[in-house]
Amino acid sequence: MLEGAGSATTCSRNERFGRIRGFKPLFHARMAAWNIFSTEVMPIRRARRDDIAAIVRIEKASFGRQAWTRAEFLDYIAEPEECVFLVAVTDGAVAGYIVGFGYRNRAEVDSIAVSPAHRNQSIATALMNCLKRILRRRGFTTLSLTVRVDNTPAIELYRKLGFARVRRINRCYEDGAPAWRMRTSLILSAK
Ligand SMILES: CC(C)(COP(=O)(O)OP(=O)(O)OC[C@H]1O[C@@H](n2cnc3c(N)ncnc32)[C@H](O)[C@@H]1OP(=O)(O)O)[C@@H](O)C(=O)NCCC(=O)NCCS
Repeated sequence: MLEGAGSATTCSRNERFGRIRGFKPLFHARMAAWNIFSTEVMPIRRARRDDIAAIVRIEKASFGRQAWTRAEFLDYIAEPEECVFLVAVTDGAVAGYIVGFGYRNRAEVDSIAVSPAHRNQSIATALMNCLKRILRRRGFTTLSLTVRVDNTPAIELYRKLGFARVRRINRCYEDGAPAWRMRTSLILSAK
């Protein structure tokens, strides 16, 4: 996912946008209902157009040459019914973002990043837990993602949040790097 790669089982970025446009307007009215989620640590809310400059700064600091462009983020903003695009705000500024996407009963994390100055403060954890809550409420049962095998911080974070490796994708990224597909259940255990 993320480093120039996309979603589900592909590693190419544009594939994802084709998929978004073909998406059935499954939960138009219902998606509009959510706006602001104050989690246990900081406000998390729906991303807005005026957040894009801050999001692109975090993206460039996190992914360098693989960074998504302003236009790509605006594509997500333009699809509020289909995409769950959240930002975490600390001291009035965007400190991190997550982009999720759902189709039938499967959902995908398309991107997540936190500004370097705000890392290891549970911001990514709060964003992911918020995304999970929204997708669970919408009836999704699993959440998947693709991550470079050498991205230890992200893999450790995902494992801590209940994701397990399901398979490896060789030569997933433009630089030929392999990836792990990871997945977690959104169904809460009855314990
Ligand atoms: C991965 C990333 C989103 C984590 O964000 P974060 O807000 O710092 O994460 P949190 O504070 O919520 O979670 C911290 C957990 O992540 C893991 N983690 C974070 N940094 C780590 C590191 N350098 N080494 C190992 N594990 C690390 C640990 O499990 C840690 O839990 P712990 O503090 O109990 O050990 C952030 O490092 C980032 O934006 N990286 C660049 C973009 C990126 O790689 N995104 C994911 C691509 S798949």
